[in-house]
Amino acid sequence: MANHKPIGIFDSGIGGLTVASAISKLLPNEQLIYFGDTAHVPYGDKSATLIQSYALNITRFLLQQQCKALVIACNTASAAAYETLRDAHKGKVPVINVIDPMIEAVIADDEIKKVGIIATKATIASGVYQEKLTRRKPALKYEALATPLLASMIEEGFYNNNVSTAVLQQYLSHAGFADIDAMILACTHYPLIKPEIDLFFKHRIKIFDSAMVVAHKLQTILAKENLFASKRLASDIFYVSDFTKSFEESTKTFFGNATHLKQITI
Ligand code: DGL
Repeated sequence: MANHKPIGIFDSGIGGLTVASAISKLLPNEQLIYFGDTAHVPYGDKSATLIQSYALNITRFLLQQQCKALVIACNTASAAAYETLRDAHKGKVPVINVIDPMIEAVIADDEIKKVGIIATKATIASGVYQEKLTRRKPALKYEALATPLLASMIEEGFYNNNVSTAVLQQYLSHAGFADIDAMILACTHYPLIKPEIDLFFKHRIKIFDSAMVVAHKLQTILAKENLFASKRLASDIFYVSDFTKSFEESTKTFFGNATHLKQITI
């Protein structure tokens, strides 16, 4: 039996749109309800307790919208709040984080000997990538670096310009990245600067981002739980906790001009 309820997706801001867009391409029958927590962006400088409370509020709201599955399209929220959300919504809906599918993709590639990880301060400080990589593939070396300016820079629309080039030059020149053969973009904002990162490394390394791996993970879970929609019945809805021009422009870039953007206080 088909299930035409929407998929709930959230992030602190525009970053999760990279994941939402991949989901939309892979699963065009699914209606998406996206929540960008623009009133609280960036999450990366906040405590795990605060991120957990934002994530609980947002996901309760998404469940009120009848969502049949929840995607935490944010590494910082996945690191700080995945277990909290999974336990809070147990038995109701599947909750998908962005970290586990990324770990699976990286460890499956035996050509990679050393991987770089760039992410927000909160994600790096949580140690979740470092711990999972060590446990799943002890021989794989890694170098993790917090890159706190990047998410705010991207959220403000600064990419593919002199500002992003200078900031990336500074971060990516990190000595521990000199011998990496792959990089994990452990923040869903970073696919927007993927071409610049690729250029910095002269197209020499593999670059992993969450968007498609998470979309495939969602596909697998919907199949397993028998939750696929058989046709598209309603258009996507985008909520923000604070209206920003940059969010509006980004939704248009990813989803076209007819997007439905609403501000809501939850
Ligand atoms: N897009 C986010 C992530 O994947 C959050 C960035 C932030 O709000 O600091 O970590």
